[in-house]
Amino acid sequence: MDPVRNPFAPGAGSQPPELAGRDAIVEEARIALQRAIQGRHAKSQILLGLRGTGKTVLLNVIEELAEQNEHVTAYIEAPECRSLPELLYPKIHQALRKFSLVAAAKHNTQRGFAALKSFASIFKLSYAGIDIVVDAEPGSADSGNLEADLSELFVRLGQAAQSAGRAWTLLIDEVQYLSARDYAALIVALHRVSQKKLPILFFGAGLPQVAALTGDAKSYAERLFSYPAIGALDAVSARAAIQQPILDEGEEISPSALEQILLDTQRYPYFLQEWGYQAWNLASRSPIGPKIAAKASAEAIRRLDEGFFRVRFDRLTRKEREYVFAMASLGEGPYRSADVATKLGESIQSLGPRRAEIISKGMIYSPAHGDIAFTVPLFDKYLGRIRDRTQDS
Ligand SMILES: Nc1ncnc2c1ncn2[C@@H]1O[C@H](COP(=O)(O)OP(=O)(O)OP(=O)(O)O)[C@@H](O)[C@H]1O
Ligand SMILES: [Mg+2]
Repeated sequence: MDPVRNPFAPGAGSQPPELAGRDAIVEEARIALQRAIQGRHAKSQILLGLRGTGKTVLLNVIEELAEQNEHVTAYIEAPECRSLPELLYPKIHQALRKFSLVAAAKHNTQRGFAALKSFASIFKLSYAGIDIVVDAEPGSADSGNLEADLSELFVRLGQAAQSAGRAWTLLIDEVQYLSARDYAALIVALHRVSQKKLPILFFGAGLPQVAALTGDAKSYAERLFSYPAIGALDAVSARAAIQQPILDEGEEISPSALEQILLDTQRYPYFLQEWGYQAWNLASRSPIGPKIAAKASAEAIRRLDEGFFRVRFDRLTRKEREYVFAMASLGEGPYRSADVATKLGESIQSLGPRRAEIISKGMIYSPAHGDIAFTVPLFDKYLGRIRDRTQDS
């Protein structure tokens, strides 16, 4: 059918035509945002899920909701190399400037800028084009201890937001890439503003290992946030994710084709978009039937193998590949680390550093003590396919 009218949106962070199965999460975020602006206690959230489950899409939806609800927002994608103070500095500066437009917030925004200036100088942050006109305030946010200084800065920022009748929402994607120092400081600062009931909210998104990182950083963090699980869709939502966009274009898909797509994608959001996209383009007319669904499956798998799966596999060293192949050879995960070690004929201890390195690359995580699983859905099947291919050739 006409590719120009293809409604599906496979891709990182691309807004799906139908945001299926996430109403409860969006609603929880909306309530938290509205409570915060009213000065009520509101819980920050960390969305946890495997690759391609729709975390980035949800963070974008939440950011929009925050703006609709009078929050000033700051969206950050944690890269693997820059520090949190560096990333936050221009965002906090920008927020303070917005709060400073409200006359009643003048005094508190000045105090915020003063703390920001001290913070910038102690952590040696320099930003071309950003010039803070107030003097740094000795003794505020300049101890050199990131936990203390970030807390102080957040308190000043929260007070400025409050006196402006606004709130500040910080959104951070790929939380697992924050350093342990930065993540701990962020948690302490959020804890501080929550105790003081200041209108600052945090929405994070990351791979499932973030739950363990959070507990390791500060034990109370488990209670500070809620952790919505972003996973595969339930069957009703997955059907809607495929069917609704097709109906909206005035076309149809047969029930058996739809069920085949649910089965092949295991209802993972990114895969649903890929399959829907291929099925639409391969069909010459509506309704899309089971033969087209089968062709779409082959084409989608070919594309994933060349892109989505391949780029992740390519980041692994030879030794790390041996480890993930050993995992995949054990069937469907999660796996016992001990079984992987047995498979490789090595001890768990000697494999520890290798396992840790693959975790830090975001490829695997530990869902429970002693267990290991892939962060990429259906990665075991991919590894099976490429092993067969190398054996065939
Ligand atoms: N609720 C949903 N219904 C249908 N499709 C969705 C839904 N959520 C996300 N998608 C689709 O899934 C794909 C992946 O979304 P997104 O990039 O947000 O995932 P992610 O969890 O951030 O992945 P990663 O961990 O790789 O960053 C996109 O193509 C998006 O359109
Ligand atoms: Mg993402």
